[in-house]
Amino acid sequence: MSSTNHHSTLLTAACDAMSNSHSPYSKYRVGAAIIDSSGSVYIGCNVENAAYGSTICAEAAAVANAIASGASQPLVAIAVVTSTAGTPCGNCRQILAEVAPDCKIFLATPQTLNTPQETTLTALLPDPFTRLS
Ligand code: THU
Repeated sequence: MSSTNHHSTLLTAACDAMSNSHSPYSKYRVGAAIIDSSGSVYIGCNVENAAYGSTICAEAAAVANAIASGASQPLVAIAVVTSTAGTPCGNCRQILAEVAPDCKIFLATPQTLNTPQETTLTALLPDPFTRLS
């Protein structure tokens, strides 16, 4: 029997979103899925633009989807799936700090969904800007 855990749903959702990535310029597909404190999951993918700077990252899209959908804050974990298991960019770390300050972060490729790397936002962004900083 294959093993499962409570993160597998999140990683599968992120991988599914990755397949919907609009990334004709970089060819780098990114899928993200965030779970809120009620257990609801919200997805996002990167959406590139011919004006490259107008690109939306997958993590930012997932946060926007969660908030627009009425997610229960704080958001508690995010899975990000790419071809390299890369970490969220600096801008996305700051975006996560706003609504998911203590979130766990799971990083995987489509081939490593069952053995993701695990980190935290605090580890990746130890001193985020807040209005109280
Ligand atoms: N990208 C993300 O979606 N998230 C990140 O954290 C890093 C970068 C996207 C933006 C662009 O579409 C592609 O990956 C290459 O930078």
